[in-house]
Amino acid sequence: MDRTAAAYERLSGVYDVDWRHAVDSYLPLLDRLLGQERGKRILDLGCGTGLLAWELARRGHEVVGIDLSPAMINVARRKASGWGKTMAATHPGPEIDTDIGLDRTTAAPAKVAFSIGDMRSFRVAEQFDLVTCTFDALNYVTEIPELHAAFRCVRDAVSDHGRFVFDFATPAMYETHPRGASHRTIGSERITQWLRYDRASRLAVTWFRFGDDVVEMHRQRAYEMVEVARALRGCGMAVEQAFSGWRMRAYDSLAQRVICLAAPFPDEDEGKLRTDANARMSEKPTRNEP
Ligand SMILES: C[S@@+](CC[C@H](N)C(=O)[O-])C[C@H]1O[C@@H](n2cnc3c(N)ncnc32)[C@H](O)[C@@H]1O
Repeated sequence: MDRTAAAYERLSGVYDVDWRHAVDSYLPLLDRLLGQERGKRILDLGCGTGLLAWELARRGHEVVGIDLSPAMINVARRKASGWGKTMAATHPGPEIDTDIGLDRTTAAPAKVAFSIGDMRSFRVAEQFDLVTCTFDALNYVTEIPELHAAFRCVRDAVSDHGRFVFDFATPAMYETHPRGASHRTIGSERITQWLRYDRASRLAVTWFRFGDDVVEMHRQRAYEMVEVARALRGCGMAVEQAFSGWRMRAYDSLAQRVICLAAPFPDEDEGKLRTDANARMSEKPTRNEP
């Protein structure tokens, strides 16, 4: 099993207890973007336990969630009490799931499907109005060529008038992270967590040790805005808007977490315009976010 997929075997069981705030931060932005219309087609990459996918499906959109971790996908699927056939998402591999879920909280059919898949290599049969990739999921892609591969897949999956909304942690996030181990109880789990960050490679490794000594390792890479903007451009997309942190303040180069709204550029002229906007957002940070 891929080591990132393995990283969530145990954490998946308590993920929703402690990590749902990202979804709450994203919803106002996504609601504004999606407007009053229902039935938009949305692809959530690195969907985890389906927190965002289910919220968007409850709003009447058709959502497909893809995640590398079978354990996270299982949690996402278990949130539905019934399944029926329809949606047209395809993914190479044995675990294609093209079902519609039934929302347990309202007993209404919600159009949501979950597949095990890799954001660096997935293929979909139809394009989407919106692609999302939230809460550090992109930081698990630790090599620049893989980041390009992921963005190329996104470009193929998003329609020409669609949008790509995602976030990533910057070096400032890991550099200011408290050193040493922290201990806490999340749901039924007693967890010890610690981080090691290497400034040169910008690799961050977070370990979670559970009460019975099972250890899960999360390997992520910090990204600078300039790298992300360049990779997007190389794949036919450009940043339209960027924000700093969960409160979605205007982007500044000191951000620890950047939230981006990106769009494909269909022709060279439009691409040039957006590229200029990107260049303005690509200055190197000079100090840490307070
Ligand atoms: C911190 S969780 C975020 C989950 C969800 N997006 C949220 O906002 O709660 C990161 C997720 O990214 C997934 N992930 C990491 N690398 C991936 C990849 N290459 N392809 C698909 N999913 C990936 C992990 O399995 C995990 O579920």
